[in-house]
Amino acid sequence: MNPKEVAGRKAAEMVHAGMKVGLGTGSTAYFAILAIGEMVRHGLELTATATSRQTEALATELGIPLAALPEMGKIDLTIDGADELTPELYLIKGGGGALFREKMVALQSERVVIIGGMGKQVEKLGAFPLPIEVVPFAHEITRKNLQALGVRPQLRTQADGTPYLTDNENYIYDCHTGIIEDPVSLNPKLKQITGVVETGLFLGIATEAIIGFEDGSTISFT
Ligand code: A5P
Repeated sequence: MNPKEVAGRKAAEMVHAGMKVGLGTGSTAYFAILAIGEMVRHGLELTATATSRQTEALATELGIPLAALPEMGKIDLTIDGADELTPELYLIKGGGGALFREKMVALQSERVVIIGGMGKQVEKLGAFPLPIEVVPFAHEITRKNLQALGVRPQLRTQADGTPYLTDNENYIYDCHTGIIEDPVSLNPKLKQITGVVETGLFLGIATEAIIGFEDGSTISFT
């Protein structure tokens, strides 16, 4: 079995009638959304909000009732993927470019369940380049200020070489950091740079994780 589907389906079991649910973005969240769509088709009533236009389109196609984030109030449960995940539930997110909306939704959520295959587990963050969303205006200056903090920023581009645009019409710098020994002190330094919208460091936000395996089993931890 596909470990992403195993984890996604397991997380969808946490969704119950009447819940307000945050729907993540990416290839693992996709499977959770499919499972939630099946539950809705069988009569489960819930309200969901999406972390990206891509997820919004998928949820709409599946008939999952959606509301805008400000209309949701407190979200009961958000299910999302991650690019890296440590034992203390620190994350790098944004490989799919949705980090800003993902963080907005996660921060309104009582529970944030991170799902992934076992490849996502690391002891320390930093092998995966850290996505940072920046305002396009004078982004070259923002890049220099990022560089001055010791990270190596690379502008994310599309196949035709033009900059990748987020759902918020911003750019992403994928920052090569090497192992991040102290993400808690790095994150505010990055965020303090004018031009930085948000970082892909999710610290103290996830409440639990579900890792899926090919044999259909999962492990969960908090
Ligand atoms: C989207 O911007 C990301 O934060 C994803 O949640 C993350 O990249 C995990 O994606 P996959 O589940 O596709 O690996």
